[in-house]
Amino acid sequence: MKVIAIANHKGGVGKTTTTVNLAACLAEKGSEVLVIDLDPQGNATSHLGFNPNDFELTINDLLTDSSNKVDINNMVAEHSTKGLYLIPANLAMSRADLSMSGLIEKDHRLRKSIKKLRKDFDFVLIDCPPSLATLSINAFFAADDVIIVVQTQPMALDAVNMIDETLFEIYSSRPDFPIVPYGLPTMHDKLTTVSKTVLNAINEKFNPNTFSPIHNNVKLKEASGYGKHILEYDPVCAGATDYRRLAKDVIKVYENEKNEGRKYISRDS
Ligand SMILES: Nc1ncnc2c1ncn2[C@@H]1O[C@H](COP(=O)(O)OP(=O)(O)OP(=O)(O)O)[C@@H](O)[C@H]1O
Ligand SMILES: [Mg+2]
Repeated sequence: MKVIAIANHKGGVGKTTTTVNLAACLAEKGSEVLVIDLDPQGNATSHLGFNPNDFELTINDLLTDSSNKVDINNMVAEHSTKGLYLIPANLAMSRADLSMSGLIEKDHRLRKSIKKLRKDFDFVLIDCPPSLATLSINAFFAADDVIIVVQTQPMALDAVNMIDETLFEIYSSRPDFPIVPYGLPTMHDKLTTVSKTVLNAINEKFNPNTFSPIHNNVKLKEASGYGKHILEYDPVCAGATDYRRLAKDVIKVYENEKNEGRKYISRDS
């Protein structure tokens, strides 16, 4: 099982769109995939066609349960797409950061809960909120790797440097298992010079761990409004092609890891 956090504390850069559509494309390739919605906005939950308010138990109950009685396995909802599952979020989570503040090992609650999953998922994708507070820190401690979603727009890399510092602190506390940050350029517009310049900077920053860009595609936006992933909404559009390619590349990363060992690029390089 590989746990991947999809993160950037900058808002509206394509984290949820990536989590949901990458999950659908991995499932299409035969993987068993769990999406964990870690954002109180519940956007991944509604993008997958669920109503965030329909759930009695959400990830919030798990993270803030001081008696440790809530079972993560009771929270997994099955999507109509084969191999695709969701742990939902809703606005009740807005106070999670605060509610967790008094709990022992508050930054490790998600990691410990994921270990208790009975089903052996191939991938767990965590849709992080646009902040670097307790919820995202929980995701980083739970994750094997982090995909940092970066819109190819000016100033995009400023936010990335802050995530880098946070990941370095986490790395310092578990040097035996370094997180590998991957960069994913999103909403890329091939026609503008500024987009191309930022894309080059992203490639340089994450070199060699940058995935090919996801292009601007209105179908991706429409699909989220209809509560469908892109393979349900328009499986032949350019957005579907981009996310299928990303799924193929993600699978390749872990196949290579099996054959060649875990790749880790030293921070000094
Ligand atoms: N490649 C794309 N092409 C066109 N629109 C996109 C693309 N990716 C995302 N969008 C749209 O951009 C908006 C923001 O995307 P999304 O919700 O995925 O970002 P986010 O980083 O999860 O935001 P937040 O920080 O609020 O959680 C949404 O309306 C989404 O439909
Ligand atoms: Mg989001």
